[in-house]
Amino acid sequence: MERHSLTKGKDEADSGGMGKKYYIAGNWKMHKTRAEAAALAKELVQALKDGKHKYLIAPSFTLLETAAPLVKGTNIRLGAQNCAPEEQGAHTGEVSVLQLKELGVQTIILGHSERRHNYKEDDALINKKVHLALKHGFEVILCVGELLEEREAGKAEAVCERQTTEGLKGVAATELDRIVIAYEPVWAIGTGKTATPEDADSIHACIRKVFGKLYGAAAAEKLIIQYGGSVKADNVVALMAKENIDGALVGGAALKAETFVPIAKF
Ligand code: PGA
Repeated sequence: MERHSLTKGKDEADSGGMGKKYYIAGNWKMHKTRAEAAALAKELVQALKDGKHKYLIAPSFTLLETAAPLVKGTNIRLGAQNCAPEEQGAHTGEVSVLQLKELGVQTIILGHSERRHNYKEDDALINKKVHLALKHGFEVILCVGELLEEREAGKAEAVCERQTTEGLKGVAATELDRIVIAYEPVWAIGTGKTATPEDADSIHACIRKVFGKLYGAAAAEKLIIQYGGSVKADNVVALMAKENIDGALVGGAALKAETFVPIAKF
């Protein structure tokens, strides 16, 4: 049985699961100048205007003002890659949700593994950011995922359970329609190694179960869980065919229209 669709059945074209609407997001990380960002945003707007999925691009902070008017009113949402845990104040080098809101940002990616591991963000800090982003009306993509050594030690599920539970601590049931989880095994990010569709699906199922324990089965069924980690045109179909995979968070392949569009329109 097909689990659910972002369009709640409206776009169901077949019974094989590929008629559902997926959420395909591009995380541009620390790439591109304003001119390059504008060129890519324009190409994507054009190429995806008849796309049937939900789309998002997340450029660097300095590119948001350039990208915002280009995607406004299109089927591509504007995302930021992070935000500060405070609204404003003496926080040198940080960017506030108020500043992101002003630029037209709709979604904030939080807890990305590069933030967790390279910049030492812990679950408590990420949870604080989740609350602040929700308070200001943003959609949140909360990233979770295990390190290679954690996977090898058989701890992948436990890590994802902890990151999901701690990341969402105190989030109200009324806010869940603005929560998306991205499962990104750290060993698969930017490495060319992808989790097999079966391995990814089994962690997605575990995350959904954890979410169900927190918020009930109906909420768990509706939860959108993206997979991230070396998603490419040649593996997207097999990944998205899995019951518990509802979209993709794409890094490297999101940097060019020629690699992102085939994923976005799979
Ligand atoms: P990748 O990055 O597609 O380059 O592996 C994914 C991500 O970090 O979101």
